[in-house]
Amino acid sequence: MSVTKGLDGVLVTESRLSRVDGLAGELTIGGFPLEELAPNATYEEALFLLWEDRLPTGSELSALQTELAALRQLPGPTLEILRAAAAKSLPPMDALRMGADTLTLADPDPADSSPVANQGRAKAIVARVATIVAAYWRLLNGKPVVGPRPDLHHAANYLYMLRGTEAEADEVRGLDTYINSVIDHGMNNSTFTARVIISTGSDMISAVVGAIGSLKGPLHGGAPGPALDMVFELRKRAAASGKSLEAEAEAYVRQTVDAGGRIMGFGHRVYKVRDPRADVLGAAAEKLFKKAGDIQLNKDARAVEQVVLRVLEELKPGRGLKTNVEFYTALVLHGLGFETGLFTPTFAVGRVGGWTAQVLEQIAEAHLIRPGSGYRGELNRKWVPMEQRSGNRKR
Ligand SMILES: CC(C)(COP(=O)(O)OP(=O)(O)OC[C@H]1O[C@@H](n2cnc3c(N)ncnc32)[C@H](O)[C@@H]1OP(=O)(O)O)[C@@H](O)C(=O)NCCC(=O)NCCS
Repeated sequence: MSVTKGLDGVLVTESRLSRVDGLAGELTIGGFPLEELAPNATYEEALFLLWEDRLPTGSELSALQTELAALRQLPGPTLEILRAAAAKSLPPMDALRMGADTLTLADPDPADSSPVANQGRAKAIVARVATIVAAYWRLLNGKPVVGPRPDLHHAANYLYMLRGTEAEADEVRGLDTYINSVIDHGMNNSTFTARVIISTGSDMISAVVGAIGSLKGPLHGGAPGPALDMVFELRKRAAASGKSLEAEAEAYVRQTVDAGGRIMGFGHRVYKVRDPRADVLGAAAEKLFKKAGDIQLNKDARAVEQVVLRVLEELKPGRGLKTNVEFYTALVLHGLGFETGLFTPTFAVGRVGGWTAQVLEQIAEAHLIRPGSGYRGELNRKWVPMEQRSGNRKR
């Protein structure tokens, strides 16, 4: 029996939600090329697309917006947990995981696993995950929580809850484009985690809590903060040494790779060409930067990107290490004025739509996910009474 480590290339199910073509560098979401969907749709339209397999009409869209807006408030104990987490300055992804776990308290009937109950649950989870992240971010920064505004749509309300003031239309557009770009992405680790959990007949909140735990890891969703920190660090080094940014970037990549480290924002398990989300997000970032006047950071990031690509190709030839979604995520979210600690939780605010849709799909599939493993331990050991055992000696 041969082992496929990490299930690389193994198809575990069929999904209508998204298609990732890693060799062509194409991402299809609900039948739309990413480039078509992400910059045009509101997040609610993308949600409707995943949940219903078509775009909503005007009245369906406003009904969904109203429904989501009515589900945004958090149960009291959720806020208490967030306050306790902020008192300990826990990282936002830990607070999100803990907060999401308490959402069962707001569930009208946790034991009801009917399709209608699960569709309602999907909406409640999507609505409240954004509220948890925004509330926690403010608490962590010593600010009072700003409650949701029912008249604002999902992305606009998220920005409002974070800032306490209404965002400009182009900022809302930038955020919609980002959360649409990450809403679903084939059988990525967090999605697989959610599907594994729900496949046992468990509940949607458990599946989403597990997915949040998976997304937290730097090999999945935890990279955009470090990717931007790298650009800031290289700028600092260049200012201190008087060398060019490119020279500092080259030295950094060589040192990091020599020491067995990885450059955050580069490489992907599936994409061996440029991640298509990088271009969509690069364009969104540029629009924001025109306004924010941080054009230089955008230029510097692109200069660093070129050096990293060149040196990685030299040091790791043939591995297809290209810019991934995280590098440009960092630029878009920076353009929205977000600090790096908010990057991965905002990824979750987008991806939770995909998690719920994938969970609904897995429930319909009704098949327990249970892969096998090869065994490389010993066989036929003989039981040794305690008094005859000595240390680790094998028998
Ligand atoms: C995303 C990632 C985990 C995918 O890795 P993977 O498919 O498991 O690829 P592997 O770990 O098998 O790596 C293949 C080779 O490329 C190297 N490599 C992969 N990503 C690299 C990176 N970002 N920087 C430097 N080297 C890298 C590995 O060291 C390995 O080298 P080797 O063949 O000499 O052993 C990996 O590219 C990575 O760690 N990237 C940085 C983190 C990141 O940006 N994550 C967000 C992903 S969207």
